[in-house]
Amino acid sequence: MAKEKQLILVPDYLTVRELSELIGASPIEVMKQLIANGIMASINQQIDFDTAAIVIEEMGFEAQSESAIEAQEKQEEAAKAQSWRQLYADEKAENLKQRPPIVTILGHVDHGKTTLLDTIRKAHVAEGEAGGITQHIGAYRVTHNDRQITFLDTPGHEAFTAMRARGAQGADIAVLVVAADDGVMPTTREAINHARAANVPIVVAVTKVDKRNANIERVKQQLAELDLIPDEWDGNTLVVPVAALQGDGIEDLLEAISLVADDSNIVANPNASPAGVVLEANVEPSRGVLATLLVLNGELKRGDTIIAGETYGRVKAMFDEVGGAVKAAGPSTPVVVMGLNDMPEPGDSFESVKSEKVARQIIDDRAVGETDNGAARQPVTLQDVFAQISSGHAKELTLIIKTDYQGTLQPIVSSLETISNNNPEGINVNILSADTGNIGENDVMLASASDAIIIGFNVDVDSAARRSADSNGVDIRLYTVIYKLLEDIELALHGMLEPEYGDKLIGSAEVRQVFRISRVGAVAGSYVQDGIIRRNAKARVVRNGQALTNNLPVASLKRVNEDVREVRAGFECGIALEGFSDFQEGDVIEFFVTERVN
Ligand code: GTP
Ligand code: MG
Repeated sequence: MAKEKQLILVPDYLTVRELSELIGASPIEVMKQLIANGIMASINQQIDFDTAAIVIEEMGFEAQSESAIEAQEKQEEAAKAQSWRQLYADEKAENLKQRPPIVTILGHVDHGKTTLLDTIRKAHVAEGEAGGITQHIGAYRVTHNDRQITFLDTPGHEAFTAMRARGAQGADIAVLVVAADDGVMPTTREAINHARAANVPIVVAVTKVDKRNANIERVKQQLAELDLIPDEWDGNTLVVPVAALQGDGIEDLLEAISLVADDSNIVANPNASPAGVVLEANVEPSRGVLATLLVLNGELKRGDTIIAGETYGRVKAMFDEVGGAVKAAGPSTPVVVMGLNDMPEPGDSFESVKSEKVARQIIDDRAVGETDNGAARQPVTLQDVFAQISSGHAKELTLIIKTDYQGTLQPIVSSLETISNNNPEGINVNILSADTGNIGENDVMLASASDAIIIGFNVDVDSAARRSADSNGVDIRLYTVIYKLLEDIELALHGMLEPEYGDKLIGSAEVRQVFRISRVGAVAGSYVQDGIIRRNAKARVVRNGQALTNNLPVASLKRVNEDVREVRAGFECGIALEGFSDFQEGDVIEFFVTERVN
């Protein structure tokens, strides 16, 4: 059998030196390979993935793009999140019984999430027995007035919007932590959007109220502005002040969570075949794989055989959050399970099967299935909304709106609401978030997690957001005329939106030095920052975030006095544009090609 080639993970761009280190060759050997393939590059010059891949394969390895793997992982995460609550949908109403609410904590960095969880745990979870599994298990149950509440103890990944999306999607109730001395911050707003996208009710914990500069009233004001009207002001949002270090307000918070749980239909079928989700997994030399599972439906028993993601096994032993052995775990119960053959991934779902033989069969089938359709989410574009709705794949059109000014936001939102209420198909137009400012990566992550389309009015798209939208299949539509925007939405709801062509940003270059050359005009000595710039693309010049021009043909593109068709990121070049010569150092030249946008 042929020996398998060693896989090399390669970033989008790297220097010749970095490439040589990656494959353990000398820079000279790499440069020779490059020359053999017609590429002259110095040791500190950047080359792109495609070029690096040629050298890597020539030298007997296999190249794998780092960013492609990342994009795929992100898509798989999003797909997992969508399926969390699907479990209950197929159950008959008479089989459903109340289960403890599953609660997640969201909020801005340093606002006190971990401290709050620790305080709740210390006050309400008994110490573990010596000899039991005392490790941190990612979730724990609390009893408050005879009612159980399960807290998800999301680990230190809070910085990632994608994780937050998943945290909210896996829970029944979100506790939004806002520090009284700091108030609502950007991440707070994002957390609200994610909870709303996942249809998860929010309880607000205003933390650090013991601090001298705490201002609870200001926090309430800010929440009200985001449509979370505090109950004291006759709104529907329970806002509870807490001082977690002192333990003050914790009982009130648990009470508020219970009240919200009473209002929500939090149920499961305890007699169903057990199923749920993997929270964490690790391996211990003496005990093998230990997986923390959260049971969502049915009752998991010792001796059951389960499949979790791509692994399986018989449950040999189970432990609760304090290390005590348990025989069975019902809905909303977190348990540490011993007996899986391999480590599942956090976020994988698990289910029970008849026997290990069946388990192996299912996993083999999955492995085959994955290569042809995979777990990737279907991209949602405005163009195919109607088709998705009429085929039953979508019940509503979910939008994220970004505009230049508050003054344009209001009329657009209210017109869309009118369309939502009056369209003959009865399709709901759900506005997930409406805000001012350019479209950023966070907007794209939110859209990806909630199958939303992003509508921009008189705004730009950050280049990171553009890339992320491309790899996650998120539709971004930009408008400069309000009636056109509204018309497109109406047409989409009628299934009559024609495909349209628009500009796609392919790369950008920063002007480093301006040369004035008689007869030619101004040439911008530039450095390509990202993507690729092309001679046949259209360009525009951006200064301090403002576009000065649009749609200019490229007059010339040169590298070291040679005319070239394209220049990739990491290289310098000379750019001249038709009809523009007023370059300044620091200007950014963006390059666009026209392609189908919906
Ligand atoms: P990240 O995990 O970094 O996002 O932070 P976090 O939200 O988990 O905040 P953490 O619980 O780590 O608290 C941040 C800081 O605030 C720590 O120094 C805590 O001691 C302090 N803190 C948290 N809660 C309170 C409180 O109720 N009162 C006071 N005075 N300080 C608090
Ligand atoms: Mg923390």
